[in-house]
Amino acid sequence: MTKILVLNGPNLNLLGTRQPEVYGHTTLDMMMDRCVSHGVTLGQTVTHMQSNHEGALIDAIHNARGTQDGIVLNAGAYTHTSIAIMDAISSAQVPVVEVHLSNIHARETFRHHSYIAPVAIGQICGFGVNSYVLALQALAAHLSGEDAV
Ligand code: DQA
Repeated sequence: MTKILVLNGPNLNLLGTRQPEVYGHTTLDMMMDRCVSHGVTLGQTVTHMQSNHEGALIDAIHNARGTQDGIVLNAGAYTHTSIAIMDAISSAQVPVVEVHLSNIHARETFRHHSYIAPVAIGQICGFGVNSYVLALQALAAHLSGEDAV
């Protein structure tokens, strides 16, 4: 089994009631249950964490070094602001897939830029909860070397 951390950033604890027209009606708990069960089918032990605090997210990325095989990261609005999270990923030596529920490129201009994208192995956005499922699949392929060109 590979070990995958699904890390969720600010305001994602409000999923289900937060702007449902953008983010849907599925709660974070429901989404993470889906990740855990889908992970099993991929041979992944999925753990998850959510924090509204930048430093806590950075600590989680640091702690993943040597303990996790990959990270699925939805950094929420910190995606667009946090050089500190970008630096943490650069230092952690753990592959990261960036995910977003919404298509950030089809929204306000300030959401088009991601500090995570340059240090992630890839970005998946716009597919709701399936963004996470696709990210787990992408990590499985990456870790088994199937995505090598
Ligand atoms: C989000 C997109 C971000 O722009 C926003 O700040 C979020 C959620 C998404 O999952 O679509 O909090 O990361």
